[in-house]
Amino acid sequence: MKLNPHVTELSLYDIVNTPGVGADLSHINTNSTVVGYKKDQLHEALKDADVVIIPAGVPRKPGMTRDDLFNTNAGIVKTLAEASAKACPNANFLIISNPVNSTVPIFAEVLKKHGVFNPKRLFGVTTLDVLRASTFVSAVKGKRTEEVNVHVIGGHSGVTIVPLLSQTGLTFTKEQTDALTHRIQFGGDEVVKAKDGTGSATLSMAQAGARFADSLLKALNGEKGIVEPTFVYSPVATKDGVEYFSTNVELGPEGVAKIHQIGKVNAFEEELIKAALPELKKNIQKGVDFVAKN
Ligand code: LMR
Repeated sequence: MKLNPHVTELSLYDIVNTPGVGADLSHINTNSTVVGYKKDQLHEALKDADVVIIPAGVPRKPGMTRDDLFNTNAGIVKTLAEASAKACPNANFLIISNPVNSTVPIFAEVLKKHGVFNPKRLFGVTTLDVLRASTFVSAVKGKRTEEVNVHVIGGHSGVTIVPLLSQTGLTFTKEQTDALTHRIQFGGDEVVKAKDGTGSATLSMAQAGARFADSLLKALNGEKGIVEPTFVYSPVATKDGVEYFSTNVELGPEGVAKIHQIGKVNAFEEELIKAALPELKKNIQKGVDFVAKN
């Protein structure tokens, strides 16, 4: 974000080390100021922000699902949402903290409690699934990554991640479709396994978060035709009882400008969507219940 030309002021917040990271970043010669806030300065860090990017929380260890992080990360996200509701209620909120399928509804419920929920300004960042899809598919098809754009819909964990390979305009054998779909759905596990107990994706996730934030900043500044898949409050799957869903979303000055439909899918993808919906519904409800009870 320090490299992003649309950023004027970069506020960093964490419970440790932020002043040092802030001082370090502030020497990069781009035209934004940087301040690293300390543990007791959450309000100051958030005050009047336009865009708040939230990657806070603990990462997975091998063998864990993202949902296994719920007990620790739900409370962290709730605290950040409460502070945001007071310090910057009109900001755009980009949620990276896992499990995203539950933390986005948690954030929304807290904002609702404070009477400041704007569904057009809350985004679950699913961009890493899109980056992975582009990387994995281009490797299989011998293409350059910029030529391969995959519409990934649903949520951000396991079977709720649904890549629509049929919409790429490329052809795949049955084996390629099965293998690529599985790799895109469980790409995060590859990193968790390779890091062997020391965490999950941070560098690729940083790139994904920065790409989504850049797209949003461009759209907020009036640039037209900016489309990214993102997990938002959406009418796309409400008939199946799912309130939040990721599809391509056109971004604009108001945040969400237009939510695209799923589009044409084949029989294989229909089955993937069918498998995703009950899991997604459960994850969303878990987030809603957490705020109701706490
Ligand atoms: C990812 O997709 O890499 C992140 O959601 C982190 C994780 O736990 O896999």
